[in-house]
Amino acid sequence: MVIYFSGTGNSLAIARAIAEATKDQVLPLVEAVRQDLSKEKRIGLVYPSYDFNAPPAVRNLVPRLKLNPQAYVFIIIPCGAQAGNSSWTVRKLLQQKGIEVAYIHKIRVPDNSAIVFGRNPNDQKWKFERFSKRLETILSDIRAERRAHHYSWWSPLAWIMGTERMQQWMIRTFRPSVNAEKCIGCGICTRVCPMRNIALTDRETPNDRSAEVAAIGPHCTACLACLHACPQQAIETGNNPTLKERQYRHPQIKTTDLFLRK
Ligand SMILES: Cc1cc2nc3c(=O)[nH]c(=O)nc-3n(C[C@H](O)[C@H](O)[C@H](O)COP(=O)(O)O)c2cc1C
Ligand code: SF4
Ligand code: SF4
Repeated sequence: MVIYFSGTGNSLAIARAIAEATKDQVLPLVEAVRQDLSKEKRIGLVYPSYDFNAPPAVRNLVPRLKLNPQAYVFIIIPCGAQAGNSSWTVRKLLQQKGIEVAYIHKIRVPDNSAIVFGRNPNDQKWKFERFSKRLETILSDIRAERRAHHYSWWSPLAWIMGTERMQQWMIRTFRPSVNAEKCIGCGICTRVCPMRNIALTDRETPNDRSAEVAAIGPHCTACLACLHACPQQAIETGNNPTLKERQYRHPQIKTTDLFLRK
């Protein structure tokens, strides 16, 4: 089983490639915690690096997974540049459950958080040139059930930026908001949010576009899935209006692929 957490599809594309190579299945993390996976002989975790650490949602949910201690367990981290402690922290959480991680690798992909700074994630497509080569290595290692930890946790910046407090600050700072004027109540953001943290609510004053408007709840992990998926560019962060050409999704992944079950 290849378990993923993905905002803009990089992790899902990698999880699918691994599952295809190993004739396995993929499962979103929020659904994996509801299943008994203790008979699975191979378990993969694919999730992005957030602020040099694993996303808080991943750190919260991983301890709830029901896994087989004898399974071959691997972690793959797609990241913009530096994965920091992203695998190290989850490896420790799994160790506390008696599970040893056999294989760890990071892989660089366009950085979906570039949009926060007014930059265009689509300008980093060059990263895909190296991506395929790196993915081939990872697939062959996992097929052969090799054991190796390719960490990148040494950076002092990672230890400062990857702390819980700093990560919470980053989430508070970059948490997106809905521009009610632009929202048409289509509900796409409610389906892609990996935290199931967006709901449609009745507008106080329905307008000619919609009777409902999206409302972001308290469990935001600032993954920006909603911001990148909104067809109206109605979800914004910081002081930058969201531009269509800066919205990012892994080229092999459709918006509907990121939908969670209702
Ligand atoms: C809140 C947030 C923080 C991020 N922090 C980092 C980081 O510290 N280092 C890094 O290399 N990339 C960082 N990124 C980029 C993501 O790791 C990268 O775009 C990843 O491929 C996204 O995966 P996804 O498409 O499956 O959501 C961050 C992205 C977000 C949304
Ligand atoms: S995806 Fe955009 S337009 Fe659709 S409900 Fe969400 S915020 Fe509104
Ligand atoms: S509300 Fe948006 S940014 Fe926050 S967790 Fe959900 S999809 Fe991610």
